[in-house]
Amino acid sequence: MKHTVLITGGAGFIGSHVVRLFVRKYPDYHIINLDNLTYAGNLANLTDIEAEPNYTFLKADITNASQMEELMLKHRPNGVIHLAAESHVDRSITNPMEFIMTNVVGTVNLLNAARKAWSGVFDQHRFYHVSTDEVYGSLHDGGFFTEETPYDPQSPYSASKASSDHFVRAYGNTYGLDYVISNCSNNYGPNQFPEKLIPLFIHNIRQNKPLPVYGKGENVRDWLYVIDHAAAIDVVYHNGKNRETYNIGGFNEWKNIDLIHLLCQVMDQKLGRSKGESAGLITYVKDRAGHDLRYAIDANKIMNELGWKPSLQFEEGIVRTVDWYLQNEVWLQQVTSGAYQQYYEEHYGNR
Ligand code: NAD
Ligand code: DAU
Repeated sequence: MKHTVLITGGAGFIGSHVVRLFVRKYPDYHIINLDNLTYAGNLANLTDIEAEPNYTFLKADITNASQMEELMLKHRPNGVIHLAAESHVDRSITNPMEFIMTNVVGTVNLLNAARKAWSGVFDQHRFYHVSTDEVYGSLHDGGFFTEETPYDPQSPYSASKASSDHFVRAYGNTYGLDYVISNCSNNYGPNQFPEKLIPLFIHNIRQNKPLPVYGKGENVRDWLYVIDHAAAIDVVYHNGKNRETYNIGGFNEWKNIDLIHLLCQVMDQKLGRSKGESAGLITYVKDRAGHDLRYAIDANKIMNELGWKPSLQFEEGIVRTVDWYLQNEVWLQQVTSGAYQQYYEEHYGNR
């Protein structure tokens, strides 16, 4: 019997890189991509692998309990890699309930469906929950997030992800479900929806639009190239120990304003603009409510125990990312038409 992996959220940013990696690296596996194609899900992310014989796409909604149960019983995957989520902090501030429904209820629906489909044979199956470093809250006095850092989520988004992590562990403890969880830092790279800092600013620089820096731009994020995150997910899925948590990050902290200046420099070069021209677009705007000051991941456990390490320096990753967005203008136009315009006006209109 073929090894079948059900990947949720596989049409999104990180999910599409995970799907591509698994489809290409494991031709003997059957990879099922389950995604509801929200504003953030885009099958154009996967055109290069969509015709592969070991790939199947299912349009389905994780908030629909009976649909999840039906699909799990029908396809009986050996493992689930769960990435489907509402993922943007700003949207969680305006609409927390959507995050509770998708991230909490959706995850519990999948857990229930897995319990039913894998009843009696949990040890032959794996539920892999992909989570975020934001569950640990905000660092103020140095230090790093380790796997033992107590949860202290500060935004509706991180509270919903923390809740889903707790449910996964509770299903392991209560019902004996085999699981692994990973908590990763900020990702960047091709195919990220341009509501997030890096693709939004690339898009705005290209169009000579203001670059809305929240607060003083002093918040710190720890950036990892998305393809390195996908490689880490591969390693954790195959070699992670049952009921363990792995933090994923590249020891790559940047203050927002420093990162923005680097991005502006790269864009000036790529667009043939004079030095400093793009940085002239920087505009300080009202801060994000409850804005976490600093995230920083201690990734020693996954590096030492599973032998994973990031492949790319940030300066190179940023150049690759800029090149991808400049070469994929049609993709960008498609995702920024329609509903995105309304979101942009509502969110940035009166900041
Ligand atoms: P994304 O917003 O780009 O993609 C989310 C995907 O989930 C989309 O394809 C969307 O259509 C799908 N989805 C949403 N609701 C759904 C539903 N009800 N049913 C089925 N599919 C649904 O997100 P991303 O940035 O790729 O993040 C993926 C996962 O990784 C999330 O769980 C997120 O919390 C986590 N994560 C993200 C980052 C990051 O920096 N982006 C870092 C660490 C962890
Ligand atoms: O740490 C992992 C998390 O990283 C993931 O779990 C989330 O899904 C992902 O969205 C990301 O969250 P952030 O809030 O850190 O990412 P974002 O790109 O929205 O913002 C990065 C930083 O830039 C943050 O400090 C806020 C700031 N920012 C963001 C936007 C969109 C601005 O200054 N201006 C902006 O317009």
